[in-house]
Amino acid sequence: MQITQSPKVAAEYIQQGKLVLFPTETVYGIGASAFIESACLQIYKVKNRPQDNPFIIHVSSVEEIFLYAKVEEYYKDLIKALVPGPITFVLPKRETRLFSTGLPTVALRIPDHPLVLEFLALAGPVSAPSANLSGRPSITLKSDLLVEFQGKVDLFLEGNEPNIGIESTVVDLTSPEPTLLRPGKVTYSRLLKYFPNIKKNNYKKIDKPLSPGLKYRHYSPNCKVLWYEGEILQPELSGFLGFSLKKTKLNAIVVDNLEYMRKLYSFFIECDRLNLSFAYCEKPLEDEFADILYNRIEKAIGM
Ligand code: TXA
Ligand code: MG
Repeated sequence: MQITQSPKVAAEYIQQGKLVLFPTETVYGIGASAFIESACLQIYKVKNRPQDNPFIIHVSSVEEIFLYAKVEEYYKDLIKALVPGPITFVLPKRETRLFSTGLPTVALRIPDHPLVLEFLALAGPVSAPSANLSGRPSITLKSDLLVEFQGKVDLFLEGNEPNIGIESTVVDLTSPEPTLLRPGKVTYSRLLKYFPNIKKNNYKKIDKPLSPGLKYRHYSPNCKVLWYEGEILQPELSGFLGFSLKKTKLNAIVVDNLEYMRKLYSFFIECDRLNLSFAYCEKPLEDEFADILYNRIEKAIGM
């Protein structure tokens, strides 16, 4: 795998139908041109991802969102106010050349990462799921990324590491009644200010998921993830992520939920690297970000 810091070089790879790893403000992504179907299909192969799970298409400007999707007038200013940022909009597809797994809708996002915005402006729309093997935790550290994808991808566009640590909020805007499909750093309470009638999808217990990715086991390390309930049974085989030091093999201490989000996935990956059997997670603080952590950790537990 080649490594570059040049958005221009990375954009050339994309236009040649190659795959490129790149950072965003949330987690690392693995991208291909959204106009080159064979390149998009290659992402499924590399990630071993179920083929009915569509990708987010990353673009550099709100004009491109309006070009590639049908956006109702009453949504336009709201979208403008929220980008760039850790939020993805599911919209009716307008540009038929975009690869979208045959769906009539498309998920679009403008990442808040200057280097990546430069790359996207040159590359055109880039389809990119999180850069992790399917079912595994998303990746937030360059060192973990290089281990997971060594020899599997053509190029890595190196830039500032993700600083949020969990994937973007996904909002369905295909109808006049918006729905929150996946919680993220743009919280439900913040969204309510923009979309007063937004519904929360029941993303915890879901039979027929609206966001196809929600039906798969997700974000899971090989070790067993557990809620910390005040007791650690086998400390020498355990990792602990929470607010105070415990006598475990691996300790990841955080001061608040934002730091918790930032460290969650790298903690899971480190637990596996150390061959631990258990990853204990302390319950998050009860603030606006608690929802997001419950969502990701319960998925990792398999709840
Ligand atoms: O933060 C993020 O969103 C990261 C970075 C790389 O941008 N990307 C990411 O992609 O998390 P991925 O593929 O791991 O998750 C995309 C989610 C999945 O749950 C997928 O099912 C949903 O978005 N999605 C994509 N297209 C959709 C569509 N047309 N309708 C409903 N859900 C869609
Ligand atoms: Mg993912």
